[in-house]
Amino acid sequence: MSLKRAKITGLGRYLPEYILTNKEMETMVDTNDEWIQSRTGISERRILKDPDKATAFMASEAAKEALADANVKASEIDVIVLATVTPDYMFPATAALVQKRIGAENAWGFDLSAACSGFLFALSTGSMMIESGRAKKVLVIGADKMSSIVDFTDRTTCILFGDAAGAVVLEEAEKGGIIDFVHHADGDEECSLYQHAGGSLNPATLESVKSRQHYLKQDGRVVFKKATQGMADVSLEIMERNQLTGDDVAWLVPHQANKRIIDATARRMGLSTDKVMINIEKFGNTTAATIPLCLYDWKNKLNEGDKIILAAFGGGITWGATYLEWSK
Ligand code: ACO
Repeated sequence: MSLKRAKITGLGRYLPEYILTNKEMETMVDTNDEWIQSRTGISERRILKDPDKATAFMASEAAKEALADANVKASEIDVIVLATVTPDYMFPATAALVQKRIGAENAWGFDLSAACSGFLFALSTGSMMIESGRAKKVLVIGADKMSSIVDFTDRTTCILFGDAAGAVVLEEAEKGGIIDFVHHADGDEECSLYQHAGGSLNPATLESVKSRQHYLKQDGRVVFKKATQGMADVSLEIMERNQLTGDDVAWLVPHQANKRIIDATARRMGLSTDKVMINIEKFGNTTAATIPLCLYDWKNKLNEGDKIILAAFGGGITWGATYLEWSK
C-alpha cells in the first residue's frame, strides 16, 4: 500500500424548505431580531418540519447530489462516514440507513459523534482511508436535525441552530487535496455543551422528559470563550506547521456557530474578510453540516491550487483544523 492523498471531487447539500426567521422567533421566546443579529450574525435558519423525515433523509439527499457532482455511482462508494449528533436512532447507525437509501450496495459505514467538529473529524477519517489505499471512493457527510434536540422555550440556545446536511465525495488526488489536519478533544465532564439524558448514564425516564433533559444545553459564555480561543489557536497551528501566512491562504472555511467567533479567528490568522466563507445569516448553526454548506455555496469561486483552511469547534469539547489545496 502506498500513501496517496484524498481530494474532494463532489459536493452536495440538503436544506429543508421551511425558513424560521428571527421575526418568527420573536413570537416564540423573549428575543428580538436586533439581539440575534448583533450577537450571532444569524437572520434565519431552516427547519425540517416533516414528522416522518430526519437526519438520514437529509443526508441521503445531500449524498445523491454529491455523487452526481462527482460523476460517481453509489455502487462505487467503499465507505460512508457520517458525522451527526442527531442520528435517526441510537442504533442502527444513520450511515447504514443512508447506505441503503442511496443504493451504495458495496459500502460499509458508521456514524461519528464530535458535534460541530464532526465534519472535519469525518473528513480526516475518510481521507486517511484513501491515503492508506484501503478505499478508493468515500462519502463524507455532515448532517444534523438540530430542531429535534433544541428546546424552543430556551432563548439562549433555540435562536442558534438549524437543520441541514452537506456531503462530499473523496477520491484519490493526482495533485493537491487534503494535506494536513490537527484535531483535539478535551472531555468536558463539566458539561458546558451537552444533552444530559438519553445515553447510557441517564437513560430516558418520565422524570428526564418532564425536566427537559433530552434537550441541548449550553453555557454560552464559557463555550464562547473556549471557541474563540480554540478555533484561532488550531488554525494558527496548522498554518505554522505548513509554513503558511495569511497571504498564502485563499479561504478560511469556519464552522458557523457565531459570526463574532469567526471574525476573531480570521483576525488572528491575518485574513481579510473577503477570504472568509460566512453563510451563518441564512442557516444558523447546523452543527456537522456548516462546513460542507459553505464549500457548496462558494464552489464556483474556488480555483485550482487555492490553499484552504477549514476550522471547527464544538461539543465534546472538540476542535480542529484541516489544510487542503483545492483541485477538482
Ligand atoms: N434574546 C435576547 N436576550 C438574550 C438571548 C436572546 N435570544 N439569549 C440570551 N440573552 C440575554 C442573556 O439572558 C443575558 O442577559 P443578562 O445580561 O441580563 O443576564 C444577555 O443576553 C447576554 O447573554 P450572554 O450569554 O452573555 O450573551 P453572549 O453575547 O455570550 O451570546 C451566545 C450568547 C450567542 C450563545 C454566545 O455565547 C455563543 O455564541 N456561544 C458559543 C456558541 C458555540 O460556539 N457553540 C459551539 C458549537 S455548538 C455545538 O457543538 C453543538
